[in-house]
Amino acid sequence: MNFNPELKIGIIGFGEMGKRHALEYHHATHGKMDFVAVVEPEDNRFEEGCEWYGKRPRRYLCVSEMLNKETLDGLIIASPNCFHVENLKDCMDKNLPLLLEKPLESSFDKICEIVRLSRTYKAPVMVDHVMRYAPIIQKAKELITAGSIGKVCSFNFVQYNGGGALFTTFRRTMAGGGGQLIEKGTHDLDVAFYLCGAAPRKVTGICRLQKFGGNKPEDLTCAKCDDFKCSNRLSVGKSSNAAVNDINLSHDLCSFSKAVDVYDNEMCMVECTNNVFGVYSHCFFVNNHFSRRYEIIGTEGMLYIELTLREKHYNCDGRITVARAAPLLPLPGIEEYNFNYQGRIHYNGGPFAGRHFYDMIQGKAEPFTTVEDAFAAEMVGIAAMKSSEEHRQINIEQDIVPQDLLPAFSEAYKGF
Ligand SMILES: NC(=O)c1ccc[n+]([C@@H]2O[C@H](COP(=O)([O-])OP(=O)(O)OC[C@H]3O[C@@H](n4cnc5c(N)ncnc54)[C@H](O)[C@@H]3O)[C@@H](O)[C@H]2O)c1
Repeated sequence: MNFNPELKIGIIGFGEMGKRHALEYHHATHGKMDFVAVVEPEDNRFEEGCEWYGKRPRRYLCVSEMLNKETLDGLIIASPNCFHVENLKDCMDKNLPLLLEKPLESSFDKICEIVRLSRTYKAPVMVDHVMRYAPIIQKAKELITAGSIGKVCSFNFVQYNGGGALFTTFRRTMAGGGGQLIEKGTHDLDVAFYLCGAAPRKVTGICRLQKFGGNKPEDLTCAKCDDFKCSNRLSVGKSSNAAVNDINLSHDLCSFSKAVDVYDNEMCMVECTNNVFGVYSHCFFVNNHFSRRYEIIGTEGMLYIELTLREKHYNCDGRITVARAAPLLPLPGIEEYNFNYQGRIHYNGGPFAGRHFYDMIQGKAEPFTTVEDAFAAEMVGIAAMKSSEEHRQINIEQDIVPQDLLPAFSEAYKGF
């Protein structure tokens, strides 16, 4: 491939992530990635995106028209989860390096379809598991690889917050988002398997809808609602977190609507390769609190990642602590590493993901966050929901993965 420093990129879905990728990757590559064209069906989202990016990419209403009229070097799919398959199908002929937003899709069948399509796609595909690129996660990996906690044995990852915004968008339905273990938990599960160097195999899950959902009409929005005491009332356009330049809450669908059918409090226990096992749990109705904490236990110590500390420590966004019983070794018993995310969401992983995408397009890097990894992480969510419904442990390979996708599944989280 010829090296072309200036790349022309197209974005499918110019909403929150689409517009963020445009600005963040443009800056991260010192303007070498130019977002020249977008597919965006909604007028106001297009205008918001242009305002955020500070430029007006050419706008199209359908993918094939953009691909036929533009000469592009790469593509980003950042539409709602449930449109990823139809978008990817429209891109198959162009062989353009692709950054595909996580999750792969919104249902088991459509996730499998993405994996099949991607394995015949003639250009590299990376999935935006952006957390893996974050300096705090990279440092944790470096410490684990250097043997600072000995052999990895188990993990305990939790995420508790008032994540009601997840219930006011396409994410509030299985058909739109696929459920929070797929939509949100897939980031945490991906980091768990990456850091532990282990791939998931068997899953037991408990999934419940305990706060959100209800009887309110499907089309009700906060703006049209007269319940001013509602615990999940949103102001459209407001940032969900004052501490960072966070996602604008552009959708205010009612989280107590009868349309809501995804769980809000879930837990899964996972048996992995390499004799590693672990627990992941999340709950999205814990108000006035935001925790995302990862503990990894090794034979010689424990590595503890606190991803969200800003509310308690003004000068520290995140922290890694390594604790060991090592009084006679040259290593200290406790080591701490502090991280500042520079006001960015995703723990400052975005610019690193953007530069990796740039290098991947130039043929200088392989996909690091692969479709196969995403497939395995998302199968944990599928297995947990099945386990919860059927009250039994699920063996992902035997009970879920179709025969033709077993090779893809077994490629996941290898070599870490
Ligand atoms: N990697 C991450 O950390 C991260 C964070 C947030 C969102 N996401 C993912 O990014 C994707 C988009 O999420 P978002 O928060 O930006 O949602 P969003 O609703 O803000 O943006 C999606 C945009 O796609 C447009 N759209 C709708 N149908 C389309 C279609 N058929 N083709 C093209 N565009 C279409 C919408 O009008 C909207 O502007 C989702 O898959 C989501 O899971 C990833």
